[in-house]
Amino acid sequence: MKRRRYQGRDVARALTIEDLRQMARRRAPNFAWEYVEGGAEEEVTLRRNREVFDDIALVPRTLVDVSNRRLGIQLFGRDSAFPFLIGPTGFNGFMTHEGDVQLATAAARAGIPFTLSTVSTVALDEVARRAGGRLWMQLYLFRDRDWARGLIERAERAGYEALMLTVDISVYGNREWDARNFAKPGQLDLRNKIETLMHPRWLFDVMIPHGTPRLANVTELLPPGMTSARGASAPLGRQHNPSLNWDDVAWLRDLWPRKLIIKGVNSVADATRAAQYGVDGVVLSNHGGRQLDGAVSPMEVLPEVVAALKGQLTIMLDGGFRRGSDIVKALLLGADAVLIGRAGLYGLGAGGGAGAARAIDILANEIDRVVGLLGTDTIAGLDPGCVRWRSQGRLYKGASGEGPES
Ligand SMILES: Cc1cc2nc3c(=O)[nH]c(=O)nc-3n(C[C@H](O)[C@H](O)[C@H](O)COP(=O)(O)O)c2cc1C
Repeated sequence: MKRRRYQGRDVARALTIEDLRQMARRRAPNFAWEYVEGGAEEEVTLRRNREVFDDIALVPRTLVDVSNRRLGIQLFGRDSAFPFLIGPTGFNGFMTHEGDVQLATAAARAGIPFTLSTVSTVALDEVARRAGGRLWMQLYLFRDRDWARGLIERAERAGYEALMLTVDISVYGNREWDARNFAKPGQLDLRNKIETLMHPRWLFDVMIPHGTPRLANVTELLPPGMTSARGASAPLGRQHNPSLNWDDVAWLRDLWPRKLIIKGVNSVADATRAAQYGVDGVVLSNHGGRQLDGAVSPMEVLPEVVAALKGQLTIMLDGGFRRGSDIVKALLLGADAVLIGRAGLYGLGAGGGAGAARAIDILANEIDRVVGLLGTDTIAGLDPGCVRWRSQGRLYKGASGEGPES
């Protein structure tokens, strides 16, 4: 009999993130799916983010008692249940109604932080009120600084623990497959309009009862009555700020008293500069292959950044993480934590809040299995000697070492 994945709708029967992905693919209309799934231009970086994991091999230790495994970590001095957290993704309301609240609630219940995007479809205060848990706020620093100041004050009042400035979109990435679905900005072409009508489960969850999702944190930046996510791209585009630079980081550092994180750093030089500016953490990231096509995978940069800066600031990364073993590989190479992007969205798209919880559960179970099979019982106890780059046969010394060893 031919191998076949589960074809139904019960997220409890999804065994992997890929199962959830295919369930979400069936449920969502093409335009919403393409927005989540696609990358920039030739999608070289999108593929590279996944392929890099095949090049890293695990070297297990055996005959170790692993009967008491624990997956918790310390992140910014506080307990986190697992070594991964939810990264920021915009327009979550297109995967399921109030996707931000549902994903944040799943994260809070699992005991991991959730990062809300600036371009979320539920307001930051409402997410805090309804989901609770550890919340981080992602910031796109648009031209209007009064708006930014207001948003930051709201985030502080609502109890957000960290502010995460995204710095890899000095210029908008070119996602051509996404653009092809639209006759003009904000207006689907006929083919996609018809295709959308063929997704009743999605229509009755997202569009019909509630109307097009709205961008809830940026209303002041949009013309009155134009907060619908559909019409927002042009006015928000005018707010885009290609002059963003390190002075803005200094400005934010003065303004925000809690943890400050920069997301979208991809070199030792920039990570070092972030530390010099008093930033508390970096997320090595190429925006999930959605910005600079051809950009290096964060996993490739990680060992260098760890060798230079481990202990000076919290080193996180994202891009292509779909398996517990992917996350463990990053930890073995010295990462403090991993952010997941699409993996959580696949859960949301497959089955709302229950699907998001299932995605977290799947990754946690996989991490537990991998950690045990490597012969370790805690995340802190992972041995950097348990990993090597397959293609070059190189071993990394890991967190305290100087990087690659030939
Ligand atoms: C649909 C989608 C929307 C995103 N929106 C944002 C955003 O609003 N802000 C941001 O900093 N990053 C955004 N990202 C990038 C993610 O935070 C993250 O870097 C990326 O998804 C990681 O790759 P992965 O999806 O392979 O896990 C988005 C990514 C996706 C897939």
